[in-house]
Amino acid sequence: MGYRETYDAWKADPEAFWLEAAEAIDWVEKPTKALDDTSAPLYEWYADGVMNTCWNAVDRHVEAGHGERTAIIWDSPVTRTRQEITYATLRERVARMGGALKARGVGKGDRVIIYMPMIPEALVAMLACARIGAIHSVVFGGFAAHELAVRIDDCKPKAILAASCGIEPGRIVHYKPLLDGAIEQSTHKPEFTVIVQRDAEECELIPGRDFAWHAFQAKATPCDCEPMAGTDPLYVLYTSGTTGQPKGVVRPNAGHAVALAWTMKNLYAVEGGDVFWAASDVGWVVGHSYICYGPLIAGCTTVVFEGKPVGTPDAGTFWRVISEHKVKSFFTAPTAFRAIKRDDPHAEHLARYDISCLNYLFLAGERADPDTVNWAADKLGVPVIDHWWQTETGWCMVGNPAGLELLPIKVGSPSVPLPGYDVQVLDEAGHPVPAGTLGAIAVKLPLPPGTLPTLWNAEERFRKSYLSHFPGYYETGDAGMIDADGYVWIMARTDDVINVAGHRLSTGAMEEVLASHPDVAECAVIGVADELKGQLPMGFVCLTKGVNRPAEEIVKECAALVRQEIGPVAAYRMTLVVDRLPKTRSGKILRATMVKIADGESFKTPATIDDPAILDEIRTAVKGLGYPHAKAEA
Ligand code: COA
Ligand code: AMP
Repeated sequence: MGYRETYDAWKADPEAFWLEAAEAIDWVEKPTKALDDTSAPLYEWYADGVMNTCWNAVDRHVEAGHGERTAIIWDSPVTRTRQEITYATLRERVARMGGALKARGVGKGDRVIIYMPMIPEALVAMLACARIGAIHSVVFGGFAAHELAVRIDDCKPKAILAASCGIEPGRIVHYKPLLDGAIEQSTHKPEFTVIVQRDAEECELIPGRDFAWHAFQAKATPCDCEPMAGTDPLYVLYTSGTTGQPKGVVRPNAGHAVALAWTMKNLYAVEGGDVFWAASDVGWVVGHSYICYGPLIAGCTTVVFEGKPVGTPDAGTFWRVISEHKVKSFFTAPTAFRAIKRDDPHAEHLARYDISCLNYLFLAGERADPDTVNWAADKLGVPVIDHWWQTETGWCMVGNPAGLELLPIKVGSPSVPLPGYDVQVLDEAGHPVPAGTLGAIAVKLPLPPGTLPTLWNAEERFRKSYLSHFPGYYETGDAGMIDADGYVWIMARTDDVINVAGHRLSTGAMEEVLASHPDVAECAVIGVADELKGQLPMGFVCLTKGVNRPAEEIVKECAALVRQEIGPVAAYRMTLVVDRLPKTRSGKILRATMVKIADGESFKTPATIDDPAILDEIRTAVKGLGYPHAKAEA
């Protein structure tokens, strides 16, 4: 069946579609029903099914005779290491780690935070939790201690699994002091931690609280997979919302496994034995779905890459990994390609490698700009497939299902809704708009299996953030349109979330940090266009009356504060000291207008503005930083 027939089959009978898709995974007890709508608009999938995600990702492949197949290739240019781990070895390691955690009292439903760089132990940790039914919450290494502390207090982990350090080009990231700092700051204290001691840096362990990874499990008895209800959470992954308090996206076990299995075959066009590579990080949803669970559930070989698209050691690294490991489908963020294109505009490094194994390049995480898509397609000679999804959904909402049927590519559009997603564009009143008209992008409820059923400990926030604005729909937070051919075009966020190098960040969180500076009376943070990272944060601060320290000092302190509180990943460097912020008469800061000024876009002065003269002050201020860039102004 092609795309249209498959989508129509889903729409005609979603229950039958998802029960059939459920055949792709192993069950302890098969579900008799796919959808449980008894608590609508909160929905659950495979509620009476019993299964284990780790069994599906690891054990079943060994049982099927594929124990000697490579499960994980760890390719780490920053440590000059390459390692292959078979499915049989992975099972052994995961079962032992699971056994060790169980022996220390971690069980079904307990939370475990994982704070690790891109090393195989990160996947072992995730799978060990899945095996024993503990709920993992992976925190990205680029976040600072405070962000880690916020997550510790929200999900209250029994244990934290971490590493001594991460390795960024040119510097070692000392994870252990960050971890210690976070535990000191948090109200909730984990019972113990387990630390992978890396060659690059061994850290000090606190006796009785910290255990070294190897010693911790040396004497452990390997454990079996815990039978889990389909709706039991597999993990909680925090993502940025509009405030400093991140949202804990809950991922249920069964729907997740079924949906990922479906996408590996029908979207990414790979099957057992193929090599699949997602160059992201386990700290993001892409890492959860397509570095760890998706490829392993499908019996593929997954590449765990500890490096960058450029500088480790050069802009040919991606081509080396693809050719050396025979990658068939490759997934990364457009910003990575922009970085390569900037370093090696003619892709001269490509000449050194044979990448004929590669069938498709998949891009997601931010808007795939036509320049980048065209460059990649031209240089690699394979279809470049943009696809759109979010942490909340866990898998692709709109894409080009290459495994089913490669549809014509329209550069700039991620193509069409996948089965499971009835994507609509709505006006402010919640009515679908005609083709070609801009509006809020929403998905008719219920969302398909694998998507978030709620937020961790925050059901009200879940309803308020996603379900209340457009009753009967899930509000995505993105705006765009659907054209006459049914292709979806994603244009912008409708909230204060920005996307910096494919990383989703909250300007609200940055504002909270700036506001904590003793000399800042008021502030606003916006996302401005950046050629490499897509967007960069820019802060505007008004100083407290009577402060007459040099502005440069305060500007420096603001950058340091955001780095210290949120982390280097925010890439927060630009602060402007201004006298006033543009506001409506009711006091709402006109952030959208400020963005337009900084990006050199035309705009109408809002009718509700309190004092239009402030816009000129903002224009003058951003000019001082070289904004808008010449290209944007042209
Ligand atoms: N642990 C600790 N620090 C980290 C980190 C991690 N896992 N990841 C990034 N950082 C730090 C970086 O060292 C950098 O710090 P600096 O300010 O001291 O230089 C900062 O966070 C910003 O990092 P990054 O976003 O990686 O920017 P960069 O300028 O170093 O590199 C790119 C630019 C485009 C090469 C890089 O952003 C990239 O590879 N992007 C792909 C993004 C991606 O895969 N996103 C996944 C979403 S699907
Ligand atoms: P995250 O939850 O970090 O995956 O970020 C999700 C957000 O990133 C989406 O809501 C979009 O704003 C943006 N995004 C992700 N993929 C795309 C894409 N293919 N095109 C445009 N925006 C995207």
